[in-house]
Amino acid sequence: MPVSPAVELSNVWVFFEEKAVLSDVSLTLESGGTLALLGVTGTGKSVLLKVILGLIKPDAGEVWVEGHNLTPLADADLAPYRRRMGMVFQEGALFDSLSVFENVAFPLREQGMRDEAAIEQRVREVLGFVEMEHAIDKMPSELSGGMRRRVAIARATVSQPCLMLYDSPTAGLDPVTSHTINVLLAKLRDLNSVTTLFVTHRLQDAFTLANYVYSPETRDLVPAGSDGVGRAPVHCRFLVLRDGKVYFQGTSLELARSEDLYLRKFIA
Ligand SMILES: Nc1ncnc2c1ncn2[C@@H]1O[C@H](COP(=O)(O)OP(=O)(O)OP(=O)(O)O)[C@@H](O)[C@H]1O
Ligand SMILES: [Mg+2]
Repeated sequence: MPVSPAVELSNVWVFFEEKAVLSDVSLTLESGGTLALLGVTGTGKSVLLKVILGLIKPDAGEVWVEGHNLTPLADADLAPYRRRMGMVFQEGALFDSLSVFENVAFPLREQGMRDEAAIEQRVREVLGFVEMEHAIDKMPSELSGGMRRRVAIARATVSQPCLMLYDSPTAGLDPVTSHTINVLLAKLRDLNSVTTLFVTHRLQDAFTLANYVYSPETRDLVPAGSDGVGRAPVHCRFLVLRDGKVYFQGTSLELARSEDLYLRKFIA
């Protein structure tokens, strides 16, 4: 049986006050694949992620996740699908009044998990994965920007989603910290086969995730194909939104080689 794509949008339109913020957007993201979503500010990248999550309903078109059409579903019926997706919002969006532990435990409690020992075990496990277990009792205000981003990623992955949506995960971070976040995205993708969709303003981040894989030996990124795991080439697509429309869709090489003036300016 053919495997359904992780995400499929067909001819999606979203209007805010009669202005089209997404115009006829279609895309397919294969299970286990990576999609880098690029575009200047205000082009609809965050809106697109919220459409996939079901937080914004398209005015026309359809949203399919793992072969299920989410478009006609009411909020209550979306819950099982949302659980399959983890979202890291643009600003990390931790609950300031909750400790790191309670932030990460939040989705588990919301899903009705009551076994405190099991909750703690799972929270420690994901915090260990993002190398933040030492901060389990801290408050978000005590953390640096990069640490907060890690905790947000832990919280988004605590329910073991098979699709992760990251909205500008490296925005506002220095290059070294940005690299550690990229390593984390690749680690989740390459060790846990998590389908990955991320928004970025930094083309460099997108090229990195398209051409490098996580190596458990070095605990860092290595060029795809050199890790002996045979995961190369990384199945990564690039999508450039412009004024709510899909302006470009293709591979990193196609983008890098494009003669299109707008894209050239964009990637310069
Ligand atoms: N809830 C909303 N109500 C009305 N307009 C909205 C809403 N959310 C977004 N918009 C508008 O939709 C357009 C796209 O916004 P969006 O947040 O998706 O941009 P973006 O590409 O994520 O930008 P950035 O790179 O700055 O994050 C903008 O013009 C924005 O003002
Ligand atoms: Mg945005």
